[in-house]
Amino acid sequence: MPVKNRFAELLPEITAWRRDFHEHPELLYDVHRTAGRVAELLRDFGCDEVVEGVGQTGVVGVIKGRSDTKGRVIGLRADMDALPVIEQTGLDYASKTPGKMHACGHDGHTAMLLGAAKYLAETRNFDGTAVVIFQPAEEGGGGGDAMVQDGLVTRWNIQEFYGMHNMPGLPVGAFAIKPGAMMAAADQFDITVTGKGGHAAKPHECIDTTLTAAQIIVALQSIVSRNIDPLKNAVVSVCVVSTDSTAHNVIPQVVKLKGTARSLDPAVRDQLEEGIKRVATNVAAAMNAKAEVNYQRGYPVTMNDEQATVWAAQVARDIAGDVNLSMQPMMGGEDFSYMLNERPGAYIFVGNGDTAMVHHPAYNFNDDAIPAGSSWYAGMVESRMPAA
Ligand code: NI
Repeated sequence: MPVKNRFAELLPEITAWRRDFHEHPELLYDVHRTAGRVAELLRDFGCDEVVEGVGQTGVVGVIKGRSDTKGRVIGLRADMDALPVIEQTGLDYASKTPGKMHACGHDGHTAMLLGAAKYLAETRNFDGTAVVIFQPAEEGGGGGDAMVQDGLVTRWNIQEFYGMHNMPGLPVGAFAIKPGAMMAAADQFDITVTGKGGHAAKPHECIDTTLTAAQIIVALQSIVSRNIDPLKNAVVSVCVVSTDSTAHNVIPQVVKLKGTARSLDPAVRDQLEEGIKRVATNVAAAMNAKAEVNYQRGYPVTMNDEQATVWAAQVARDIAGDVNLSMQPMMGGEDFSYMLNERPGAYIFVGNGDTAMVHHPAYNFNDDAIPAGSSWYAGMVESRMPAA
């Protein structure tokens, strides 16, 4: 089974949907136009049920197979939201909204899953129910979690979840996947360093917050290098340093640090949280200053089920002839993890070819990947619930 022939026929139509979404990017939960268009198309396809407003602005479409002898239900998921990026592609269908851009290819994911939904509604060549899920707010808003909280799993009795993301650098139409941890837990921390501000020429009368913050930044790097098992993976990055002073000669009263902590394992995640709090507060204490740490847990690890990974890889292999099963996990976050925490399933990468990386202003989803991506979504349904 190479690419399903129907998707070659549908390619111009799916591409047109994709480019329309690209031209009209929306952020976080404010995906009303996109969600409205998705729901409209799902109704046109003849889905048995289309529900809007799941997890605020998520859309769910239900497609019943020709038979249902075992009560099987498979969930396929795509994300709909764009990013606050100023587009620099120069495309004739570039974003019409300055400062918003489909820079992560969610326009492509949505279009590919719509293509699969159209095909599945036409053919219904499976025994059970396919649920197509279009989520808002993947980029930092936890839209996947919102849909789960809104009863996604129990309302439709979903038993397995499958999701996909495009990957620049991977050849178009190729697939990559691995069992276990695929994407990282993505947490963030805020550290507020307080001391005693004052005249920069009289440091002995101050408690220097900038020097304390600098010591904290350096010491935080010892957590990954000295506390975490070298065979495990973790990242601690301090990304923002700000103070209440703008002068060359004033020691600020307060310095704020912001950063992110990534991990692939729950025990390492606990260690990062404990370590950042311990290092920041104690380094500050050694400098006679004070550090307050606010550590917020974000998306959990995206964990591919072992058996579901085998099934997902087989469908990919049938389409592409081969599949990369030995890819490294990535330290980015992904909120499909909330669905995979509820039910087994898998998340796979489809090649976007030689393009700019996702989140870059010159990035564009590669429409040539559509037949492979749509075939994989549809193939998961047909292979997991073969026609009776
Ligand atoms: Ni993305």
